[in-house]
Amino acid sequence: MINNLISRTISNKELNVPVWFLRQAGRHIPEYFEIRKKEKNFIKFCLNEKLIIESSFLPLKYYDLDAAIIFSDILMIPWAMNRNVKFTENFGPHMDPMIPDETKIPQNVSICSKLVPLKNSIISLKKKLPAQIELIGFAGAPWTLACYMIEGKGSKDFINTRKALWSSNNWFFELIETLIIYIADKLEMQSRAGADILMLFDTWSHMIPNNFFYDCAIRPTAKIIDILRSRKIFKPVIGFPFKAGASLVRYSFESHVDCIALDWSVDLSWAKMNINKDIAIQGNLDPASLIPSPSLHLKENVLSILDIMNGRKFIFNVGHGLTPDCKIDNVKEVISIVKKYNRKI
Ligand code: CP3
Repeated sequence: MINNLISRTISNKELNVPVWFLRQAGRHIPEYFEIRKKEKNFIKFCLNEKLIIESSFLPLKYYDLDAAIIFSDILMIPWAMNRNVKFTENFGPHMDPMIPDETKIPQNVSICSKLVPLKNSIISLKKKLPAQIELIGFAGAPWTLACYMIEGKGSKDFINTRKALWSSNNWFFELIETLIIYIADKLEMQSRAGADILMLFDTWSHMIPNNFFYDCAIRPTAKIIDILRSRKIFKPVIGFPFKAGASLVRYSFESHVDCIALDWSVDLSWAKMNINKDIAIQGNLDPASLIPSPSLHLKENVLSILDIMNGRKFIFNVGHGLTPDCKIDNVKEVISIVKKYNRKI
């Protein structure tokens, strides 16, 4: 049963434009630090039902949003695969790097049994959330998880991952295929627990050599969605191939996503012409425009996005996560502009 604005928008054109924000539950909200202090270890934080629920709720106290996103992290799958994932302050995530052709790829891991607090917090959140607010579950896409798992940390060029792709093709694709199963399992679990919408973050898709884009981003996404559909999970899926440029077009036609999230570098007039018209578009305000106070061109930019996307199935969002220095008043202003906008369809 599809009742709510985001789900309705994905299946039809709607007069009202829904709005939510990537990383809406993070460090730009002062109380986040109060909640975060209760558990210093970020992995343990992401496994604490009470803290997950509090953090997911937090942005709703401030903003009139159409969705909450469950508080978790894409690196909970590598953690469940025993890759020794750690989050260190001022350094970001790191883990034991996998050595292509040498490191055994953990098979038959029961991801869901390791992420029971995630499941339980979705069940509780769904009971507490107002009926019109949808809950978004998510996972990292296979390529992006493989990037972190091979490199062991973030990187400016993910050279070890790209080298593995060219030289250890069988091992590399065994890793991708294994991740496809674990990601599908995690999304299925979130959907069955009550998540209304599922999102796949492919943050490092712009690191894929162009000739491998289909094999590393599009085909794995299509396979994950096909597995979900074969398991009778029909919730809409939003794909986010960050900075994928011209490859966004093929992704929009062949990845089986119901909605494509566009990053802040995408020219929306180009997207309107070239992206598959059957699917919805989400995006793509630059999160940096929410930092200055006052932000001089904010209103004009928000209106321009809304004008270009008039007539399309469209969800308003930022083109990447809100930053810790983003201003609450700017976010409020954006929401108010979106909610007042008179759309023609
Ligand atoms: O509001 C939300 O969106 C909350 C849920 C959420 C988090 N991470 C919480 C988080 C989501 C959807 C993510 C996804 C995620 N995690 C991505 C994909 C989206 C993107 O930003 O491209 C990636 C690449 C990660 C990996 C990750 N997690 C990094 C690189 C970092 C450190 C960098 C940073 O922003 O500090 C994290 C930590 C993390 N995940 C934080 C939050 C709120 C900050 C943790 C803290 O110190 O409190």
